[in-house]
Amino acid sequence: MEIILETKNICRDFKIGDGSIVHALKNVNIAIEKGKLTILRGRSGSGKTTLINILGALDKPTSGEVIFQDSDITKLSEKKRDMLRRFDMAFVFQSVALMSSMTAYENVDFGLRLAKYPYNKRSERVKYCLENVNLGKRMHHRPGEMSGGEQQRVAIARAISHEPSIIFADEPTAELDTTTSLQVVALFKKLTQEQGMTIIMTTHDPSMVDIADKVYTLEDGEIVE
Ligand SMILES: Nc1ncnc2c1ncn2[C@@H]1O[C@H](COP(=O)(O)OP(=O)(O)OP(=O)(O)O)[C@@H](O)[C@H]1O
Ligand SMILES: [Mg+2]
Repeated sequence: MEIILETKNICRDFKIGDGSIVHALKNVNIAIEKGKLTILRGRSGSGKTTLINILGALDKPTSGEVIFQDSDITKLSEKKRDMLRRFDMAFVFQSVALMSSMTAYENVDFGLRLAKYPYNKRSERVKYCLENVNLGKRMHHRPGEMSGGEQQRVAIARAISHEPSIIFADEPTAELDTTTSLQVVALFKKLTQEQGMTIIMTTHDPSMVDIADKVYTLEDGEIVE
């Protein structure tokens, strides 16, 4: 078993308007295994978004270390953290953030351009990724011409397109019905099994967790068993 990402005693405090402090994460230690689907679960306000944002270098802990590929990424410059996010990591959010004027194909292609994917391999890669999420027939549809689940699958195709080493998904199924949600999670599982991707997602939906390789439960900023 190979650990790709690990936290060591991370805490995240937020100072709020009235001067008081919220301890959103308290001594969190987790280890993410390469090629697996890990789920972070917990009630609203338990710290899931705070934790996934720190794992994905979108935020820094108040104290503690985040080890990714053997180095503490909290100590890197903003420029290096930006490079990590752009080339090594990918993100899928709750509300699908696709460009509404672009087709599914163009949305994925746009992601590849940002990641500086080789020009002559782009077209093939876009088609491969959209087929991978079962959207071969929706390639030339714009987001407004697709269902919520289809749009989320375009977002997933875009996330996997530049071959990131790790994908973060914060409540990717929150706006989908149960059946579609389970399909999205099943797709994540397939990507880990067939392509060795590492995926971390958050959810507050207990029905999602059975499919995960590993589940961490957060309660009030702490990992509980
Ligand atoms: N920027 C912030 N400033 C102050 N407090 C914050 C901030 N962000 C989060 N918090 C607090 O930290 C705690 C954890 O928030 P977080 O967003 O991580 O929860 P969550 O588990 O993702 O919840 P949800 O399921 O509702 O998305 C909450 O008590 C929240 O109020
Ligand atoms: Mg959240």
